[in-house]
Amino acid sequence: MRKKIAAGNWKMNTTPNEGKELVKNIMAGSPELKVHQEVYFFPPFTHLAAIAEVTGKQNFYTGAQNCSQHEKGAYTGEISTNMLKAIGAGHVIIGHSERRSIFGESHEILKEKSSAVIAAGLTLVFCCGETLEERESEQHYKIIDRQIKESLSHVTKDDMKKVVIAYEPVWAIGTGKTASPEQAQDMHGYIRTLLKSYFDETVASQTSILYGGSVNAANAKELFSQADIDGGLVGGASLKPEEFIAIIQALP
Ligand code: 13P
Repeated sequence: MRKKIAAGNWKMNTTPNEGKELVKNIMAGSPELKVHQEVYFFPPFTHLAAIAEVTGKQNFYTGAQNCSQHEKGAYTGEISTNMLKAIGAGHVIIGHSERRSIFGESHEILKEKSSAVIAAGLTLVFCCGETLEERESEQHYKIIDRQIKESLSHVTKDDMKKVVIAYEPVWAIGTGKTASPEQAQDMHGYIRTLLKSYFDETVASQTSILYGGSVNAANAKELFSQADIDGGLVGGASLKPEEFIAIIQALP
């Protein structure tokens, strides 16, 4: 069975103490996770060490929202994968639409970042997603294909075991407008066909693909019950313990 995952991307929210409290409450209030279920917390860099200390057990893990593509050197303000690994982060999100659009991260940079995450032995959570304009002009399949082709398809089949994909339509992020379960399922199914063509049948059937974009306690169950949706990458609702616990409970 593929891993079923609830991941909380906190973005630039919470202080370290608030973050610790949030994780404590969520871990205490969650049901015992089954072997195939995992929960990831993605706090800001400043809280990673403290939060990694209390996770790493019972299938709760901590990861970073970004990293540098470089190993080390004169890159003021950047954080390398080895630094993340050293403080207990096990996962890194790459390719979030906010990194693409606000920080101008190109396909090429994201390819380098994906490689850096894999080379460090960390789990890569690779995000893809189209804008509303791209969907309305029926470019969405092409856009997702391009994002995966340019920045992920170079990964070896074996290393794909350490990759989780998150499909996050940009028009559904932070807007309260969720993709319908049918729309999300359709794209997740398409992503599996891409994985089959860039890698093979095994990679296509074993890679967990998360949906992201206004996931909440009320819509999680229906989304997660779709055949190719293996959980969610959650923004706003991951900052509210009751909401996020309900999302965890909705994992199949
Ligand atoms: P929201 O759940 O707030 O829409 O954010 C989704 C997201 O961007 C997760 O990475």
